[in-house]
Amino acid sequence: MTHYNLTGKIALVTGGSRGIGRSIVLHLAHSGADVAFTYRSKVDEANALVAELQNMGRTSVAFQSNAADAKQSDEVVQSVIKTFGRIDILVNNAGITKDGLLMRMSEQDWDDVISTNLKSVFNFTKSACRQMMSQQSGKIINIASVVGVVGNAGQANYVASKAGVIGFTKSVAKELASRNIQANCIAPGFIETDMTEKLNEKQKEAILSVIPQKRIAKPEEIASVVCFLASQDSNYITGQTLKVDGGMAM
Ligand code: NAI
Repeated sequence: MTHYNLTGKIALVTGGSRGIGRSIVLHLAHSGADVAFTYRSKVDEANALVAELQNMGRTSVAFQSNAADAKQSDEVVQSVIKTFGRIDILVNNAGITKDGLLMRMSEQDWDDVISTNLKSVFNFTKSACRQMMSQQSGKIINIASVVGVVGNAGQANYVASKAGVIGFTKSVAKELASRNIQANCIAPGFIETDMTEKLNEKQKEAILSVIPQKRIAKPEEIASVVCFLASQDSNYITGQTLKVDGGMAM
């Protein structure tokens, strides 16, 4: 699957039960890491994924928790440290959309998206970085979005959250660089998951027309880049946002 060697590494992925997160969990495990992950609601899918990792000879544990909740997130991190003894790789992937034009966007839809997509990144990064600092090593990989760079009509809440993640990542990268911790973002373009499934054909066509590669990506095409940023091969890269978008935003 990937040629990166993550043998013996301990990874924590938020929102790992489906879509891009699930693919990230599988790719990290195939590269040799033991992987803990969180999810919101789908217990059966989460348990099936844990079993799949165990069949591969990896250790895995799933936590049902709300990434927007600081207390729950800290409990997850402490539990991972207790179980595995360390955290080498943190992937902040959990995210939602609640789209609508600004004129019609409710305060609730703004708050939900900001807390799930942005506050969650603060929660997990703050809790995990203490451990990474004491280890003097760590990789923080935040899943942003290309719209966080270029903007998108109908997604003011989502775009603000993703632009926030990008700014947060740069600040954290500067704070933690001297401790041998690298923090980077991946900004995916248009990926085939439940999140994009709900777009209608007209919306999909409009998106495809602005992708030079003229296709939608598979979750694996994000997961392989996560493995690169989680590996030693990217040790001199920090504070960056890597667009994985078929050329959408250049
Ligand atoms: P998805 O909807 O298929 O999966 C989202 C995951 O996040 C699920 O595992 C869900 O359990 C988890 N999640 C949602 N709210 C949560 C909460 N409060 N606490 C814990 N977990 C929660 O979405 P997809 O497409 O796999 O997206 C993953 C990430 O990639 C998101 O951050 C999304 O914004 C980002 N992204 C996706 C793109 C796409 O085209 N699908 C494009 C750009 C970015």
